[in-house]
Amino acid sequence: MKQSQLDYPFPKGFWWGSASSATQMEGAASLGEKGPNIWDYWYETEPNRFFQGVGPEHTSQFYDQYKSDIQLMKETGHNSFRFSISWSRLIPNGDGAVNAEAVQFYNNVIDELIKNDIEPFINLFHFDMPLSMQEIGGWESRAVVEAYVRYAQKCFELFGDRIKYWFTHNEPVVPVEGQYLYGFHYPALCDFKKAVQAAFHEVLASAKAIESYKKMNLSGKIGIIINLTPSYPRSQHPMDVEAANRADLLFNRSFLDPSVKGTFPEELIELIDQEGFTPIIAGGDLETIKENTVSLLGINYYQPRRVKAKEHVPNPSAPFLPERYFDYYEMHGRKMNPYRGWEIYEKGIYDLLMNIKNNYDNIDCFIAENGMGVENEGRFIGEDGIIEDDYRIDFYKEHLKWVHKAMEEGVNVKGYHVWTFMDNWSWLNAYKNRYGLVSVKLEDDYKRTIKKSGKWFKNLSSNNGF
Ligand code: BG6
Repeated sequence: MKQSQLDYPFPKGFWWGSASSATQMEGAASLGEKGPNIWDYWYETEPNRFFQGVGPEHTSQFYDQYKSDIQLMKETGHNSFRFSISWSRLIPNGDGAVNAEAVQFYNNVIDELIKNDIEPFINLFHFDMPLSMQEIGGWESRAVVEAYVRYAQKCFELFGDRIKYWFTHNEPVVPVEGQYLYGFHYPALCDFKKAVQAAFHEVLASAKAIESYKKMNLSGKIGIIINLTPSYPRSQHPMDVEAANRADLLFNRSFLDPSVKGTFPEELIELIDQEGFTPIIAGGDLETIKENTVSLLGINYYQPRRVKAKEHVPNPSAPFLPERYFDYYEMHGRKMNPYRGWEIYEKGIYDLLMNIKNNYDNIDCFIAENGMGVENEGRFIGEDGIIEDDYRIDFYKEHLKWVHKAMEEGVNVKGYHVWTFMDNWSWLNAYKNRYGLVSVKLEDDYKRTIKKSGKWFKNLSSNNGF
């Protein structure tokens, strides 16, 4: 189709593709000389935490099937694909000897993608702390920051000749929330002070990895992928506005500002200091963060936060959580995803992008994840045996319209990656919510079938718009 016939054309070279992560799709969790990470350990010790008791060993078997999967990526119109390296597969002890089988595997994946004209994007950390690193404190520990930087350097050395787009973390706020606040990642603590230290160390680790990358004089770009959740106040009452601002500071700007601007927001520092949660910062750390900002920003967007002022004075003996500063409210008439329970608010993606243009120097960015999870998706199989996920096609279109508008207004958006390529295992939720362009039938030897949305995505990418 000619570009002039499209309602929403996108520029030449726009990245169309999807995102994934190692633990969620490789499988082979104990094969190929891989070391254990926190997910393997948690599953081994507390399998009942996982939806239907399904653990990381059962993730989509990309480790064995990467070649045919990459053909499916082609068939679904990918010109780019983001995956993560499993730190504990590459360096089984977290620090030290490199696993030759893992090097071979990642080299094979990279080469196969390039051979098929799919640009590989590599993310270094997607929630999968090696167990040996967690045992010495995980992100709370300075030693883990240093080990992560050595791991990052190893990746640059091994794969940097072919990789043009690197990312230091995916959604760095999530391990902080999961491990230190809300209990959905091992070790499921509830300790705000430790949460702040871990967050600071993630920011520092990212800056140090960027510093190492720059020293190597490789020709690619290095960025970070942050999940941004726009915080909308219930009203323009100053107390509601203040509540939304605090949610924004804690969940968005805590990583966005240091990554892009090289500094933490003053108001955030004040908030943290006033509670006595100031992290340990070594001499030179703030300079390292200042000097090593990202050159590309990946943005994950799923849903907004609807925030109101706190109605009751928080009980001082209750666990200290970010919700001490605000409450959530159910906005009347908001649109919900009936199959996952998350709000769908398409304009949120536009608001986020405009914020990047107006307040973050209009840095090059792309949508690094956007997607619609569906529980029990098998119910939508049509007569032809494929999943008729028109709801997902609508979801993508409605978000893309807003991305298009933001681009017309000058935001430097370079691409759109969906979450995700094929149905995958999602941490404690395991296979509960399906997101793929391709379905995976666990009970039929992980059989893959392109969904209706996968076929639609192929047209989207071939036409470069819709
Ligand atoms: C994203 C994460 O925020 O949400 C993914 O980056 C995750 O790793 C996805 O799988 C979906 O989460 P859920 O809980 O709906 O399966």
